[in-house]
Amino acid sequence: MTERKRLIIGNWKMYLSFDDSLKVAEHIAEHISKSTSDIVLCPSFPVLPLIAERVQGSSVVLGVQDIHEEEHGAYTGETSVALVRHIARYVIVGHSERRTVYGETYDRIAKKTSRALKSGIHPIVCVGETAKERDGGNAIEVVRNNVRSVLQGLPALDIPRVVFAYEPVWAIAPSRDKKAPQPSPHEVAEMVGLIRKIAAQVSSPQYAEKMRVVYGGSVTAKTVGSFVSEPGVDGMLVGGSSTKPGEFLTIIKEIETCR
Ligand code: PGA
Repeated sequence: MTERKRLIIGNWKMYLSFDDSLKVAEHIAEHISKSTSDIVLCPSFPVLPLIAERVQGSSVVLGVQDIHEEEHGAYTGETSVALVRHIARYVIVGHSERRTVYGETYDRIAKKTSRALKSGIHPIVCVGETAKERDGGNAIEVVRNNVRSVLQGLPALDIPRVVFAYEPVWAIAPSRDKKAPQPSPHEVAEMVGLIRKIAAQVSSPQYAEKMRVVYGGSVTAKTVGSFVSEPGVDGMLVGGSSTKPGEFLTIIKEIETCR
């Protein structure tokens, strides 16, 4: 069995000020000089270069929260992967906030995934059903279609570099200090297994086995342990709790001491 390295991603969304972003990054980097996992912080674009300097020499690497699918062009307000590839090693694509607020489709998400891979950056592809889809008994079908649409056009060799985040839309916290309900650890493990199974069908079991799949949605220091001890769950995508350095460090510790 492949030993996949654990992955812990902090998605800061638009929660922190410029100064607080630097402070939180510094605090986290100072306390995790050695880590057995990949720790990824995803701040807002303007603070990215300064944070890159602050976290140098630590186990923290950087990611961004989105990119445009084209290489360059007349796209007001957008950021190309070429502008961040020297700083960021990961990019979150298809976050549910981008799907619901900005109408991002899985067709675009597939293109962004491909663009990231071509540029040498790991895409963290978010998939997950809405409350309505879950209540209608369609969660599995929705996730299956999401994953297929993203992976279908990719060369099989690229699959191990893709990361999936199973993030049920109804489990994502509505703000930094509020949490939403969470699925059971067993439900998460089932979806993670499904995602890996589809990757195996689209490419091969050997490649799918190397691909990392994480969970995200209202993760706290208290709940993280139950999810990460489930088989196949390779880490966490953490929103609000990742902007609180003490809590994020505890989450990292919980994950690293688990299993
Ligand atoms: P949350 O965010 O942990 O605040 O729910 C997770 C995410 O949206 O990626």
